[in-house]
Amino acid sequence: ILVTAAGTEEPLDPVRYLGNRSTGRMGFAVAAEAARRGAQVVLIAGPTHLVTPAGVRRVDVRSARDMYAAVCAAYDGVDAVIKAAAVADYRPVETAAHKIKKSDGELTLALTRNPDILYELGQKKRHQILVGFAAETQNVADYARGKLATKNLDFIVANNVAEKDAGFGVSTNHVQIFYADGRAEDHPLMPKAKLAGVILDRVEAILKQRTVT
Ligand code: PMT
Repeated sequence: ILVTAAGTEEPLDPVRYLGNRSTGRMGFAVAAEAARRGAQVVLIAGPTHLVTPAGVRRVDVRSARDMYAAVCAAYDGVDAVIKAAAVADYRPVETAAHKIKKSDGELTLALTRNPDILYELGQKKRHQILVGFAAETQNVADYARGKLATKNLDFIVANNVAEKDAGFGVSTNHVQIFYADGRAEDHPLMPKAKLAGVILDRVEAILKQRTVT
């Protein structure tokens, strides 16, 4: 099982970056639970202070492009990908070689698109089960269903990150799961460790169904 966790950092200069509020807790919970269930787990993690869960092989990355390279290198050998990382959609066009000095007036940053890692995996999908997350602050179901289809996922775990006790940083999450066949599930607020089990139950069910058919 390949799990990604935490945010990416997109460098502006040697001391600054564009980042986001992901701590890695959601992805680390999934990796820990998958290893506890006996899976071989590779955890590709952006910068975080979290301790590597027992039995998990961890690859540390910093930027979205680093994560893209690490994920692609592991992709062929995995049965499922669970992509809990918060990947920067944009990076600065240029990374200054030296610290950017302040001056009077405004500073405008030019940004360019990063690869959409999950979209690329969806394009190359063969046997792999692909699970995405959708971090939204409005129109959660519509945006999540859009990502599910565009990225060719088996299911997507949608969290409204504007909600208290859900999304970034906290130890709990409140999600809806949308499936490629149109089904949807509402789940109550629960610890991320428990949600990790809910997600892995569904991955296991798809794997078992494929073994039978
Ligand atoms: O780490 P925590 O503090 O515990 O917080 C958990 C979380 C809020 C980060 C997690 O629950 C979550 O929602 N993760 C997904 C964050 C995100 O980037 O969502 P998105 O809707 O922007 O992206 C949709 C999916 O595409 C995600 O699976 C993402 O990993 C993936 N993606 C996005 C952009 C990109 N360039 N490449 C990607 O692969």
